[in-house]
Amino acid sequence: MQITSFKQYEEDYKKSVENPEQFWGEVAQNFQWRKPWFKVLSWNFNEPNIKWFEGAKLNITENCLDRHLATSGDKPAIIWEPNNPEEESVTLTYKMLHERVCRFANVLKRNGAKKGDRICIYMPMVPELAIAVLACARIGAVHSVIFGGFSAKSIADRINDSQCKLVITADGAYRGNKQIPLKDVIDDALIGCPTVEKCIVLTHVRTPVSMLKGRDVWWEDEVKHVNDICEAEEMDAEDMLFILYTSGSTGKPKGVVHTCGGYMVYAGYTFSNVFNYQPGEVYFCTADIGWITGHSYIVYGPLSQGATSVLFEGIPTYPSPSRFWDIVEKHKVNTLYTAPTAIRSLMSYGEEPLNGKDLSSIRVLGSVGEPINEEAWHWFDEKIGHGKAPIVDTWWQTETGGIMISPIATVTKTKPSFATLPLPGIQPILVDENGNEIAGNGVMGNLCIKFPWPGMLRTTYGDHERCKQTYFSTYENLYFTGDGCLRDEDGYYRITGRVDDVLNVSGHRIGTAEVENAINMHAGVVESAVVGYPHDVKGQGIYAFVIYPEMHGEAELSKKDILQTVSRVIGAIAKPDKILFVTGLPKTRSGKIMRRILRKIAEGDTSNLGDTSTLLDPTVVEEIIEASKKL
Ligand code: WT7
Repeated sequence: MQITSFKQYEEDYKKSVENPEQFWGEVAQNFQWRKPWFKVLSWNFNEPNIKWFEGAKLNITENCLDRHLATSGDKPAIIWEPNNPEEESVTLTYKMLHERVCRFANVLKRNGAKKGDRICIYMPMVPELAIAVLACARIGAVHSVIFGGFSAKSIADRINDSQCKLVITADGAYRGNKQIPLKDVIDDALIGCPTVEKCIVLTHVRTPVSMLKGRDVWWEDEVKHVNDICEAEEMDAEDMLFILYTSGSTGKPKGVVHTCGGYMVYAGYTFSNVFNYQPGEVYFCTADIGWITGHSYIVYGPLSQGATSVLFEGIPTYPSPSRFWDIVEKHKVNTLYTAPTAIRSLMSYGEEPLNGKDLSSIRVLGSVGEPINEEAWHWFDEKIGHGKAPIVDTWWQTETGGIMISPIATVTKTKPSFATLPLPGIQPILVDENGNEIAGNGVMGNLCIKFPWPGMLRTTYGDHERCKQTYFSTYENLYFTGDGCLRDEDGYYRITGRVDDVLNVSGHRIGTAEVENAINMHAGVVESAVVGYPHDVKGQGIYAFVIYPEMHGEAELSKKDILQTVSRVIGAIAKPDKILFVTGLPKTRSGKIMRRILRKIAEGDTSNLGDTSTLLDPTVVEEIIEASKKL
């Protein structure tokens, strides 16, 4: 199933469009099924109702673990690199990982988990996180991983939305020189979570934690009570595999649902092809398993292909900005898949951190999460790839399950700041505001996908209507991505960023409405408006315009108070970079905030604010501009 030449890419692409069922049916033959499908695809985008590999039975963990045991049982599956480089790294072979997943799957069963139950996972980047994820999949429980940067309230909202029965967490996490009290956060969350019966706690940092009798149990104790034999649950191809919450243009995150068969095929196929993975190579994706990148390209994609996947607990700048390069040298990393924000951050330290580092193992580089600017692209290419490693700029989303538009390493061309061409099976289309197709090359529009692919979301948990409204109703018969896109003269795609009210801060998706809701929860705040602005490292920064007439003391302190509230409500990742206190917001006569104007002000470009004649009170704009200059 690996594409080895441009000619083959063209042929496969053609076939995937002309005969998608045959194409994906053949790709799926490369996986292990308990029972074959009777129909490759049934779909309609109106309801939406999408079924891949109907009738087929499988368990994704048999594909990620069992099937490799005979030939590659002693091959490293996961290499864990701890936060602290003085600590030993840990290698888990496929055999060891299989054993630990089975054992922990039995722990889940022992604690009452069954097929279909939802299980929340809130853990640091340790091997046990991958084990917990796979153990859920082993018994057919649906995992909902929540990134360690989210607050107790965010966790509670997510747990309640999908009525999780179990929580898996750790006492704490290390992040650089910080320690994060994960169990404390979970304890706060669980006060408002009546569906949670059990909480399994891994010892990691060994900080004191409360352990509630009857609810909380230690991971280390539990594994002693079970053996390591656990037959995989037989799953239907369209049974739920996991839920992953993501932000949109409304205040409430949605639980994106992925199912077993299609997701497995898509994650495995795209991993193998985009990175041109070769047996024995070491692959390092720097994402967190709390995001979709970690699900698809640290856990399921690589393991389904028998690859060796590096799992890194720490951050790129700890203990020094050489850390990534030390890891590359130490584990002889062949593929490095990271985010533009990390590249820009490391770039800012100059070349010193690279001195004396042996990066010669690197063969392929990857970028994901946000548009990569040309400067960062060239630095990555020259300083890290030494001009010899193709950069795959991979465009995709939580909802797409896997990479959609991207170069295929060693096979198709790269182009700085372009995600380039659609992968086989992916049919992108650009449309104007009215949904009319913008054909030809050298054009721009809103990016939609006009045909299903196996990795696509099936629904949003508990609210199918929302899935329909968000993705399938803007344009008839199309999946709408929310991204703007350019198709250049050569037919190469360049993603220009979100066209909705969604920010991309350091590759993390954050809804402006969510941040506004959080700010508005601060006592005394009357109203707020949040927009993005260009940020050198984060890509986008968060700029908040806030009406707060009765500030509590100094303005600077009041800003810090608001940041605390945002941290409590959403998490530290959503803290505004800038807060500007204003007495009014630019609104139309119908009461709509004119964000276009605020965006301009946030960018520092007030020369041409466009038409302000529809504003209720145009003087407020002058006041905001003046205030913004002093910020
Ligand atoms: C949004 C999806 C895909 C995993 C990480 C983010 C932006 C993603 C690229 C890229 C330009 C990109 C888009 C997309 N995005 N990759 N290579 N070039 N933009 O997943 O949180 O679901 O966010 O990230 O705007 O819609 P996500």
